[in-house]
Amino acid sequence: MAYPYQITSYEAYTEAYKKSIENPEAFWSDVAENFTWKKKWDSVLDWNFTEPNVKWFSGAQLNITENCLDRHAKEMGSTPALIWEPNDPSEKNRLLTYSKLLERVCQFGQVLKNNGVKKGDRVCIYMGMIPELAVVTLACARIGAIHSVIFGGFSAQSIADRLYDAQAEFIVTCDGAFRGAKDIPLKSVIDDSLIGNRSIKKVIVVTRTRTPISMLKGRDVWYEDEMKHVEEQGIHFIEAEPMDAEDPLFILYTSGSTGKPKGVVHACGGYMVYTDYSFVNVFQYKKSQIHFCTADIGWITGHSYILYGPLSAGATTVIFEGVPTYPDAGRFWDIVAKYKVNILYTAPTAIRSLMGFGLGPLQDKDLSSLKVLGTVGEPINEEAWHWYDEHVGKKQCPIVDTWWQTETGGILISNLAGITPSKPSWATLPLPGVQMLLVDEKGEEVLDDGNETVSGNLCIKGPWPSVLRTTYGDHERCRTNYFATYPNLYFTGDGALRNKEGYYRITGRVDDVLNVSGHRIGTAEVENAINMHAGVIESAVVGYPHDVKGQGIYAYVIFGHIHGDETLTRKDLLQTVTRIIGSIAKPDKIQFVTGLPKTRSGKIMRRILRKIAEGETDNLGDTSTLLDPGVVDEIKRGKL
Ligand code: PRX
Repeated sequence: MAYPYQITSYEAYTEAYKKSIENPEAFWSDVAENFTWKKKWDSVLDWNFTEPNVKWFSGAQLNITENCLDRHAKEMGSTPALIWEPNDPSEKNRLLTYSKLLERVCQFGQVLKNNGVKKGDRVCIYMGMIPELAVVTLACARIGAIHSVIFGGFSAQSIADRLYDAQAEFIVTCDGAFRGAKDIPLKSVIDDSLIGNRSIKKVIVVTRTRTPISMLKGRDVWYEDEMKHVEEQGIHFIEAEPMDAEDPLFILYTSGSTGKPKGVVHACGGYMVYTDYSFVNVFQYKKSQIHFCTADIGWITGHSYILYGPLSAGATTVIFEGVPTYPDAGRFWDIVAKYKVNILYTAPTAIRSLMGFGLGPLQDKDLSSLKVLGTVGEPINEEAWHWYDEHVGKKQCPIVDTWWQTETGGILISNLAGITPSKPSWATLPLPGVQMLLVDEKGEEVLDDGNETVSGNLCIKGPWPSVLRTTYGDHERCRTNYFATYPNLYFTGDGALRNKEGYYRITGRVDDVLNVSGHRIGTAEVENAINMHAGVIESAVVGYPHDVKGQGIYAYVIFGHIHGDETLTRKDLLQTVTRIIGSIAKPDKIQFVTGLPKTRSGKIMRRILRKIAEGETDNLGDTSTLLDPGVVDEIKRGKL
């Protein structure tokens, strides 16, 4: 059975889109009527993009967990909400029904309260992909605490920066996490991040790997002990905290083109409505289907399309602890077959990496349950698209290429599975409520010119319900980053093409942000980390095309004095980046140079460095403004 707000034909899409633009208030209030509110809104939308100040469903009160849990527990309590597939396929999987998940969320909500967490407090979550991660995240939402999940690949230093920025007082972590053949010492990383920290009051530790860890008296407590205590008190339910629609639901840190990551803040009401709406429409979710999104909950994709969107829609969502290639490259297909997965949502990087193993791992795997395939996070090349279509979807499953960002909260451009047309490597059409446009360098709108495909910087006119509301603790940063480049527009940071059908194709970032395996990394951040190494004088980081990761990280480094040999020094630098940011930001290539191409005013000409990293040595453009053009030849000669 379709959802009342589900678009079921191309005509219905055009009609919904038209209505959403002509009268967004009427459109979104109709959608919002399908949710549980503690109190309805006084006004649907108030906004300006100058401050910016965006308010959806002002005056309304809700708790997102009532939509994700209570209403389903009541109507279909024995339906699985979560299926958990462990890293090691021989370990027993776990299943939590809607009733059980609600109970666990309530119990952990009580644990948080017992440990002093109050509405509005920031709770940092640094865990592996286990069911408790869902429980903890939702429990924060239940009591109105603001969660900030940090991906398990970030270093102690990165965590310390985020804890400080979010002024967090509580942490929930695990002893360790299993990821493929690795055992990641999460608690030990947290301990390192807390050296000298006086603001963290409690660290709650979930047992997973049972690696030896230190537990500090008065600060560190075990999850299991705390839950047992609540169980003994006979607590199985707590009321959901009434939240204003505009109260923050969570903070999620993401990289930008300058300096340190920023804490993107999403608000309860709009985020709830939009993640559910986009989930149901893009994937054309049908009740009782099994949805498997392979992202980590530490990224926005996991927030919106493992947890909130699917759970709000009453779906069964699969949480996978491991990696696609462990114990072998058939793991995704085993999971699809095991749970009869209907929707598979993954990243182009994963597809490309699995393509590299050939068709062997797909042989004899029953993928007949699949109905819809999705991709996210980076442009998908046509070869990967066709491989996904032919060998995974057997040409029977529409592929949705979903474009969106941490800041947008939910999918903004995508075909709707089987409803609107797909086109390989094109994200295609905006969802209802989303007014995309392209602008040129001068900020003028790029209009269609008849037959040709046009290109420009991708911007959005007017707000959609899950637009970020601010960057935590620094609203001005939000304004300058997203709303100041072009007046009255949200600027995505991406470049795009638009064809005569109005389809969008994302060509990549136009700022100094890299997209490595679908993860955003600022070049400035990587440079800062490299420059922390004692021997480094200066560095410049650019991206280059990488067969599997989409983009690789290429670092040009001026080094003072090399201890030992270059290979060792490279390893030292990798170690430094791993310490400062995490292993996800490690450069793929490090070239030692004696100088960088700079203009007379001292600006590094990254354009030249990018071209050299891409393998282009002849057409480097105008180099006459360089202070020392000779440096370019040296760099070209030393290219890795
Ligand atoms: O450059 C775009 C790329 O990923 C960026 C957003 O990264 P993040 O906030 O980490 O969120 C990733 C998951 C939503 C965008 O600015 N991107 C995302 N989806 C696509 C994409 N590029 C091309 N095609 C996509 N489908």
